[in-house]
Amino acid sequence: MMRDAAIRIAPSILSADFARLADGIAEAEAAGADWIHVDVMDGHFVPNLTIGPPVVKAVRSVTELPLDVHLMIEKPEQLVDAFIDAGANWLTVHHEAVTHLHRLMEHIRSRDVHPGVALNPHTPVSLLEEILPYVDLVLVMSVNPGFGGQRYIPTSAEKIAKLRSMLDERGLWSVEIEVDGGIAPKTAGEVVAAGATALVAGAAVYNDQASVAENIRALRDAAQART
Ligand code: DX5
Ligand code: ZN
Repeated sequence: MMRDAAIRIAPSILSADFARLADGIAEAEAAGADWIHVDVMDGHFVPNLTIGPPVVKAVRSVTELPLDVHLMIEKPEQLVDAFIDAGANWLTVHHEAVTHLHRLMEHIRSRDVHPGVALNPHTPVSLLEEILPYVDLVLVMSVNPGFGGQRYIPTSAEKIAKLRSMLDERGLWSVEIEVDGGIAPKTAGEVVAAGATALVAGAAVYNDQASVAENIRALRDAAQART
C-alpha cells in the first residue's frame, strides 16, 4: 500500500475540561498528538450543543497543531467560512447534512483548507463513489454522533475495510480515513488493521485513569502494533 504508515492521533477536546481547555490542549501537544479534533454540534443534526467559531478561534491561539473541525450541524454550507476564518485546517461535514456536497468540498478547498466528509454509522461508503476524488478525508463514525464516551460499534472495522478498498482501487492513497467514536487501545488495533489512518479519541485521552501523555502513548502503541 503506497501511503504514509504513520497513524495520526487526534484527541477530541469534547472530553477535556472546558474550564482549562488551553492546558488540556498543551498536554496533548506535548504528548505528540498530531491534530486537535474539535466537535461542533448544533442541537439539531445531533441532540447536543457544543462550541462555535469563537471557541475555535480561541483554540487556534493556543496551539500550532492542525485543527480538525468536525461539523455535526445542519446546513454546514452557511457556517464553513466562519470556521475557516476561525482557524480550521481540516473541515469535515456530514454527508447526511448536505445536498450539494461537491460544491461545498470545492469551496472548502478553494480556501486552502482540507475538505472532509463524515458518515453516520448507517450511511454506506458506496454513497461516496463520486465524491472521493474531491475529498482529503473521510470520517467514519463508529458511534452515533452527539456524545463522547459511547461504545464502539463493532461493524465499523468492516466498513473501514470497504472504504480502504475503494480508495486503493482508485489510487487515492493520500485520502485520510479517520475513525471517530469509542476509540481506545482496545479498539484502535482493529480499525488501523482495516485501513484507518487517523484516530479520534476523547474519553480515552481525557480521563481520570491516567495522564494525557500515558493515554496517547497507549493509543499509539495499540495503533502501531497493527501497521
Ligand atoms: C461524537 C464526536 C466524537 C467524540 C468522540 O459525536 O464526534 O469526536 O468526541 O469521543 P469518544 O472518543 O469518547 O467516543
Ligand atoms: Zn468528532
